[in-house]
Amino acid sequence: MDKQKIVWITGASSGIGKALAVKFALNGVHVAAAARRKNLLDSIKGELGNNSTFFHGYKLDISDFESVEAFYKEISGNFEVECLINNAGTTSFQNAIDNSFDEIKNIISVNLLGSIRAIKSVLPGMIERKSGTIINILSVVTQKIFTASSAYSASKSGLHAYSKVLREEIRDKNVRIINVSPGATATDIWPEGALKRYSERMMNADNIADLVYRVYSEKSNMVSEELVLRPIKGDL
Ligand SMILES: NC(=O)c1ccc[n+]([C@@H]2O[C@H](COP(=O)([O-])OP(=O)(O)OC[C@H]3O[C@@H](n4cnc5c(N)ncnc54)[C@H](OP(=O)(O)O)[C@@H]3O)[C@@H](O)[C@H]2O)c1
Repeated sequence: MDKQKIVWITGASSGIGKALAVKFALNGVHVAAAARRKNLLDSIKGELGNNSTFFHGYKLDISDFESVEAFYKEISGNFEVECLINNAGTTSFQNAIDNSFDEIKNIISVNLLGSIRAIKSVLPGMIERKSGTIINILSVVTQKIFTASSAYSASKSGLHAYSKVLREEIRDKNVRIINVSPGATATDIWPEGALKRYSERMMNADNIADLVYRVYSEKSNMVSEELVLRPIKGDL
């Protein structure tokens, strides 16, 4: 019997990842929602009512690379992971001179290496099945220079470059690689002061989730490969 298909979303406990997990689950898509704060994942499941059966919450630190591979083995025993959404992310809003090396290491480990670890887990199965989708939630830092984001920009631009090369290497394997680069979005990644000042102008995580779901749902031989999303009033 064919396994049930599932979408693996990293960093699904808050912000854009939570909005994505809710959107997919409400549309009857099974979601493996992973993050460190399992209590938040349990609350999200509780909010989903009848659709809670589509939401499967898992505790996972994406920077613990061995656990990422073990996690994939666990879910792929029961489900076919047809889509990976690399959403987990962190930053520190510090100038390069003030960033400690430990902070830099954490940002690169979560945003870049954790995402690549997850891609390396799902890729062989997708190539074998000749089907699958990998969606990376990047950032407008892949398009433009923002100060106080050197490590973050390196991590997001690194994943951008990695994914663009991967896309060309597997053109004939029917695996979609979709890069989404949002601008300022009102989530907890921002310091409280910035949210107070700018949240009206920022994008809403639910709108990003709606768009990603539409792109994921495209059934033709067309793929939206690169999406840059900004608030109408532009960057902050
Ligand atoms: N908000 C924006 O303006 C904006 C703009 C462009 C791109 N983005 C990107 O959007 C993505 C989501 O961020 P957000 O804005 O929604 O912020 P958020 O609300 O702070 O969400 C970040 C998510 O990443 C998870 N995460 C962080 N470190 C992790 C780790 N070591 N292991 C597993 N999960 C981890 C967090 O879960 P736990 O803490 O529970 O582990 C949380 O669910 C990030 O990749 C971010 O770079 C955001």
